[in-house]
Amino acid sequence: MAKNSVSNRSAEREWNSEAYHRLSSPQVSWGKKVLSRLKLKGNERVLDAGCGTGLLTAELLEALPRGRVVAIDLSQNMLSTARAHLAQEFGSRLHLLACDLLRLPFRRVFHAVVSTAAFHWVLDHDQLFRNLHDVLLPGGCLEAQCGGGPNIARLRDRANALATTSAFANYFAGFREPWLFEDAEDAAQRLRNAGFVDVETSLEAAPTVLDDAAHYNEFVRNIVLRRHLENIPEPAERDQFMAILTQQAARDDPPFLLDYWRLNLRGRAA
Ligand SMILES: C[S@@+](CC[C@H](N)C(=O)[O-])C[C@H]1O[C@@H](n2cnc3c(N)ncnc32)[C@H](O)[C@@H]1O
Repeated sequence: MAKNSVSNRSAEREWNSEAYHRLSSPQVSWGKKVLSRLKLKGNERVLDAGCGTGLLTAELLEALPRGRVVAIDLSQNMLSTARAHLAQEFGSRLHLLACDLLRLPFRRVFHAVVSTAAFHWVLDHDQLFRNLHDVLLPGGCLEAQCGGGPNIARLRDRANALATTSAFANYFAGFREPWLFEDAEDAAQRLRNAGFVDVETSLEAAPTVLDDAAHYNEFVRNIVLRRHLENIPEPAERDQFMAILTQQAARDDPPFLLDYWRLNLRGRAA
């Protein structure tokens, strides 16, 4: 029992990092815009909170020729992929660390915290924002974006409906969605409660059309619904779950659209 729950917990935090690295161009293009909002001199210490495979960490390091980045992530797979393509190029200016955003081992260290496409995977935003506030130097800034508001509402509705059908209901007993999609007002209030000042939050639509059925299937399976699919033990049944969702998306206009919404978050540590 104890062994199972430990291995389930480690499966929950893992990603197919090879697939993410290859498929995450939507996240990378949103993330580049977030990085462009950071005002850097080039010598700062910056925390990349939930760095994934490090495609955006590399962009951040390019903007910090005399600075350093600590890039943290919960997934060992993500960190291994990041290490493989970043460690040699950036050497001691980059420190990759396996770490939970809800347990950050830093205090008043960073000039800035940046995060993209990660915070909605963390369900306790009060604790998350307190931690991020406390790792910043006074006056340090948070510049972040994650899923928010009605993010992927259509796919969520379809996946939840499919999970209640007789073919799949047994696998989803007690399942809870693994995301928190906050709206802009709630997020702003939580940031202020955590001690941030000059808080700005906003929601923006980021509809994303994938190329075809194969692309949609692979993207949704590996990125969006990876935690849903962990509940289905048989590969053939996982394929069936994805095939139904892909057929539904094929009938949309335009086909294979993901109705992404991004929540922008900015604040300064008091
Ligand atoms: C969709 S990826 C985003 C990666 C990268 N920032 C990007 O924009 O491409 C989300 C990342 O957040 C990480 N993550 C989720 N919850 C986390 C937590 N509690 N602590 C640290 N990292 C976490 C995941 O492991 C994953 O690598």
